Amino acid sequence: MVVSGDEVLLAHISDLHFGGYADLAQIEALEEFLPTLGAGATVISGDLSQRARHGEFQAAHAFVHRMRPHMPVLVVPGNHDIEWWKSPFGLLGDRRKYAKYSRYFRDLTPVLEIPGAILAGALSSYGVAFGSLTWNLRDLAVKGHLPPSETDRVGEVFRKAAPGLARILVFHHNALPGEVSRRMGLAHWRSTYRRLLATGADVLLCGHDHTEGAGQIDGSLAVSTSGTHSQRSRGGRPSVFNLVKVDRSAVHIQHFRWEPAGRRFLRSDIYSFARAGQPKVAVSVAGGDQGL
Ligand SMILES: [Fe+2]
Ligand SMILES: [Fe+2]
Repeated sequence: MVVSGDEVLLAHISDLHFGGYADLAQIEALEEFLPTLGAGATVISGDLSQRARHGEFQAAHAFVHRMRPHMPVLVVPGNHDIEWWKSPFGLLGDRRKYAKYSRYFRDLTPVLEIPGAILAGALSSYGVAFGSLTWNLRDLAVKGHLPPSETDRVGEVFRKAAPGLARILVFHHNALPGEVSRRMGLAHWRSTYRRLLATGADVLLCGHDHTEGAGQIDGSLAVSTSGTHSQRSRGGRPSVFNLVKVDRSAVHIQHFRWEPAGRRFLRSDIYSFARAGQPKVAVSVAGGDQGL
């Protein structure tokens, strides 16, 4: 939806983790609250399930289904959504890993055009895969990566899109280190950064870290990291989702913080970043409720 003039507004949520850890009070609140924000689309940046089980995917599918009458929904898979053990290192082909997810959400790399913006999903979740390996054993099946074929494909989608559209890139693994975890979701992030910048994206939407974030890659690509709506937020911090506004000159990322006592989300910090090619201004407004 074009909010006014050339503005585009997106609700960005992540890591719902349907299953034992999902916070149903938050899920119910999201269902009521998101349609009131006037966003042109909702983006869910992966980890819809906890163990890629049918029941978890069915609950996630029902959530998406209830959201769709209000606005389009773009979904990408997270590391929890793939059955990597059915084809470790892709030895038995990729189809087995993604079959269950695809049964419910079809496209692994969805593209969505809405008034004012084009959104492109990229696949960063491969499970135990050569491209995601690091020297840290904890990273096994958790870390993600973005092969050049993915950044090339997204770059092509953006190049073919109408010039006036905002370019929105979506994948699961956090591209900036988490504020609490200090961890990066992507393996080989230095080389990935160069390719991400070359896609021409205005903003990247990701999750995985279970902590909210707003920042930039190399001072030009804005990054919205959404938290989790499960009971697995880091450091006991309240859950957060983001509302992302892209206007002609800047990307604005506003956090909405969960207030358990009131069972509601409250407007919280806003961060604004100049779009690539625009004069460099970065303004953050902490704790305000100016709205987007
Ligand atoms: Fe997650
Ligand atoms: Fe994840």
